[in-house]
Amino acid sequence: MNDKIKRIGVLTSGGDAPGMNPCIRAVVRTGLFNGCEVIGIRDGYAGIYTGEFAPLEARHVGGIIQRGGTVLGTARCPEMFEEAGQQKAAAILRGEGIDALVVIGGDGSMRGALALAAQGVRVLGIPGSIDNDMWGTNMAIGVDTALNTLCDAIDKLRDTASSHRRAFLVETMGRNCGYLALMAGVIGGAEVILIPEAPSSVEAVAESLVEAYQRGKTHSIVVVSEGANVKVAELAARLDELDVGFSTRMSILGHIQRGGRPSAFDRLLATRLGVKAVDALLAGGSEVMVGLRGRDIELVPLADVVSKPREANLEYYEMAKMLAF
Ligand code: ADP
Ligand code: F6P
Repeated sequence: MNDKIKRIGVLTSGGDAPGMNPCIRAVVRTGLFNGCEVIGIRDGYAGIYTGEFAPLEARHVGGIIQRGGTVLGTARCPEMFEEAGQQKAAAILRGEGIDALVVIGGDGSMRGALALAAQGVRVLGIPGSIDNDMWGTNMAIGVDTALNTLCDAIDKLRDTASSHRRAFLVETMGRNCGYLALMAGVIGGAEVILIPEAPSSVEAVAESLVEAYQRGKTHSIVVVSEGANVKVAELAARLDELDVGFSTRMSILGHIQRGGRPSAFDRLLATRLGVKAVDALLAGGSEVMVGLRGRDIELVPLADVVSKPREANLEYYEMAKMLAF
């Protein structure tokens, strides 16, 4: 048993992601198994300032493995951006006797974790964000479930698009990262994919749609990442003016992508990451994030996570274009 860490804090931060709950369960039960006390902190970093600390027992995390969202709640917390706020948070954690903190969240949350490490807090990050925009892990918790949701949505939109001979513009989330849109486009059989990493134009999209129409397609699916240079509303308005053959409709999928029961993949990933995070803390690790690298869960420095860019794999982009023929 580890003789240094007695009390582990755990919080979820940033946008929620399906799979955060099985991850919390894994962190809590691995901590308890190793003789530690595990303290749940509500509403992300905000809960540190508002003093929302509560011990989590094994039964508190029962029946949550299949639930979307996060039972700890999450938030965006401006105080953490200031050094004074970071110092205050570290002091509060020390005052609560918390020896180490597990942060489940996206890249912003990892920046927060790194800032707390600079104030002397032992921190371990776990990637949870549907955007899949983080360096250091092939997949973050929630991405697979969001992709399944997108796949289902696109299948449904294609049914109606085909019936009416329409082009459907489908906007996905992802902030400045095109991963969700790109993969959704590939698995949904999209005719056109617009992502920030491959800028395009309304004219280029119109041309692709005209060609698809002339090839006898009964529908066209255009997947647009929210961060793409061409915005979905602008595209819809302009395509209505141009004669591309298809009539057009748009669908902004929004927060539907963030909800729902975590997929089998996300539950397994979340569980493996949660267990590894606590094991790593107890083995003396800090300022690292657990990530899926190949088939293995590995530790990557938080400093790398927040500074290294995650490149888009444009092979998928070319592949989708070829297969849209
Ligand atoms: P995500 O973790 O999903 O990327 P955000 O980017 O909104 O979500 O970040 C979540 C929270 O993490 C922020 O509200 C803030 O409290 C903290 N955070 C984000 N960036 C920083 C930063 N540069 N320094 C300190 N804390 C940060
Ligand atoms: O980071 C996850 C995410 O869902 C992004 O894809 C999106 O841009 C953002 O969060 C939406 O944030 P909010 O829930 O604050 O509207």
